[in-house]
Amino acid sequence: MIHPPEYVLGIQPYVPGKPIEELERELGISDSIKLASNENPVGPSPAALKVIKDSFSDINRYPDGAGYYLRKALSDLLSVKEDEIILGNGSNELLDIAAKTYLKDGDEAVMAVPSFVVYSMAVQSVGGNPVQVPLKDYTHDLSAMADAITPKTKIIFIANPNNPTGTINKKDEFDRMMEKVSNDILVVIDEAYYEYVSGPDYADSMKYLGSEKNILVLRTFSKIYGLAGLRIGYGIAKKEILSDMNRLRAPFNTNTIAQRAALAALKDSEHVINSRNINEAGKKYLYRELESIGIKYVPTEANFIYMPIGDSMSVYNGLLKMGVIIRPMGPKAIRVTIGLPEENKRFIEALKTVVSE
Ligand SMILES: Cc1ncc(COP(=O)(O)O)c(C=O)c1O
Repeated sequence: MIHPPEYVLGIQPYVPGKPIEELERELGISDSIKLASNENPVGPSPAALKVIKDSFSDINRYPDGAGYYLRKALSDLLSVKEDEIILGNGSNELLDIAAKTYLKDGDEAVMAVPSFVVYSMAVQSVGGNPVQVPLKDYTHDLSAMADAITPKTKIIFIANPNNPTGTINKKDEFDRMMEKVSNDILVVIDEAYYEYVSGPDYADSMKYLGSEKNILVLRTFSKIYGLAGLRIGYGIAKKEILSDMNRLRAPFNTNTIAQRAALAALKDSEHVINSRNINEAGKKYLYRELESIGIKYVPTEANFIYMPIGDSMSVYNGLLKMGVIIRPMGPKAIRVTIGLPEENKRFIEALKTVVSE
């Protein structure tokens, strides 16, 4: 019998949102909706869809391992150099590569809880120790996170906006934290929901790119760009960090279709604006309805809403029976992705029924 190292056994496998097909098979229902994985309900950009269809005939060839055209477009858009951009098979892969690159057995990485669970998985996968700092008012407590730094700390993970609470950290608190972080620590600022943020004073992580500090900003095409199924995201960091990370990046980690679709999606600003507007309108509708039912929620800067709701599993199961898939977040909260108007309405109707029961 073969056994993995102890630290691998300590990892809890990631539990994804329930797929629609699985629910319908189990309950023998149809017409269910999924508001569980923070995908863009609008779908991908039509320009991306066209490029995807046109790319099929090339897939006998390996992709461009360096992702030249996409990195070039990102560098133009973000006003950074091409060697300051790395592509990942989802931003998720870049979290893993960052952990593999900078952590060894026994090193520590500071992160918030609850936050994106992949941070602790990435850290544990290389024998590192996650140091989890509770949120304050549903938001990363950056001052407490800075206080949690020890000589063993190598990485700090910050989700801004945070998943699952949708809250942001602002400029001042972020800058105060950065002052306390020494130059031998990597600060990973995960901005998967960056394009949805509308609140004021959102921390400007990119301003540290030209400094002595070590930052890795992560963004993705899985959320507002609507390409979650293709798995493509990117990181921005100084070239020395990326040349370390590139040692551990698989040769063809992002595929041809994903690279081309992402490039087309990046240029389709109309689709991004439309998606953001639909999200904003859905958010307002849900706030109004939740208030009228008397359900507490955390105001969000992303495309999902966190509700500290008490018995989350019975709410989750009650909604499932009505064909509405959301995400329980521990025993006392749920997270619901903002959907299309008819999906939001369906969720509210189902929630009313569950609550009245
Ligand atoms: C905060 C956060 N970071 C990263 C990811 C991973 O995104 P990707 O699809 O780019 O791997 C997610 C996905 O839900 C997320 O919520």
